[in-house]
Amino acid sequence: DIPDLHSVLDPYFPIGAAIDPVDVLNASDIHSALIKKHFKSLTAGNFMKPDALQPVEGNFVWTNADKLVQFAEANDMLVRGHTLLWHNQIPAWFFTDPADSGKPATREQLLARLETHIKTVVSRYKGRIQHWDVVNEVLNEDGGLRGADTGSKWKGIIGDVDGDGYDSDYIELAFKYAHEADPDAKLVINDYNLESSNAKLNGMAALVKRLLAKGLPVHSVGFQMHISNTAPSIEQMRSAMEKIAALGVKIQSTELDISIYSNSTESEKPVTDDILLEQAKRYRELFEMYKQGAQKGYLESVTIWGMADDGTWLDNFPVKGRKDAPLLFDRQLQAKPAYWGIVDPSKLP
Ligand code: G3I
Repeated sequence: DIPDLHSVLDPYFPIGAAIDPVDVLNASDIHSALIKKHFKSLTAGNFMKPDALQPVEGNFVWTNADKLVQFAEANDMLVRGHTLLWHNQIPAWFFTDPADSGKPATREQLLARLETHIKTVVSRYKGRIQHWDVVNEVLNEDGGLRGADTGSKWKGIIGDVDGDGYDSDYIELAFKYAHEADPDAKLVINDYNLESSNAKLNGMAALVKRLLAKGLPVHSVGFQMHISNTAPSIEQMRSAMEKIAALGVKIQSTELDISIYSNSTESEKPVTDDILLEQAKRYRELFEMYKQGAQKGYLESVTIWGMADDGTWLDNFPVKGRKDAPLLFDRQLQAKPAYWGIVDPSKLP
């Protein structure tokens, strides 16, 4: 029997996994025992997003989210809520006029829907979901706020409500609504490429500074950490996290996976021992960095975006059908060298 991943990491931070589909939690599913054994925190990979929780206006569907929260409670695990405001996986009705689906929603309509969605969801799990990804992926790669040209309708419709010259009010209000619904929940702003793009990192730093200056309860910044076997360097990731932590917020690593590919033009390749060893080394160094971040007081949690390679979203991204192998357990649910890189590097060849 192999050591529990979480027992090795509990002294530093809770280690989590994203769960998808919800069926992997069934006692009869081969994944469920492994999830219980190794992880201390759960995130829904898809089924707590707005399209899953409120597919039709006013009709909330709780079955899967409830199941995850109950599973976590029964097994002494934390829950990270993902996610309240995003431009993806949100039903079209949010942004359309209720009286005429050919017309966009007004600012007032969209704000009312945002408030209802956030307050209904957060208050249902008040005290039971410890961290919420309140807003997800609101930044462009250049560090500006995502708008219509990069797929988000939030900024364009809501704009600058309070007249302070910044059109980030949908973000500010999302934090306010979530905090009102559960004042004890820790609220997170989550994004990708913060560890690899300086422009985006600077945009996040500026945004967080402004939100804090306005008194908004931003507790942590979530670094998604969809990285690869080759980039970015450990030092670049550490310095990105420390730059944000210096603003007075905590850091969570929210969606870690380490792809064996370095770009979308590489074609599918066999998962050789060399690749697995390279990945194990990467996981080992990264987790050393995380432990140091925890000891310095800023790194709060690490969630891996899946458990075993049989369920990775990267099989369909950025190339549909190209099989990847980014996680700690293989397609037969066996521990990979990556697992040993974290748990006991002396076991690596
Ligand atoms: O549920 C349907 C299923 O009924 C259908 O048969 C199947 C056919 O394609 O699609 C299923 O839906 C898929 C869904 O995942 C559930 O597996 C969607 O097509 C697919 O687009 C969706 O992808 C998810 C992606 O977010 C969508 O934005 C990934 O699983 C999920 O891991 C991913 O998670 C995001 C985070 O929320 C935010 N950060 C990036 C991260 C990775 O993209």
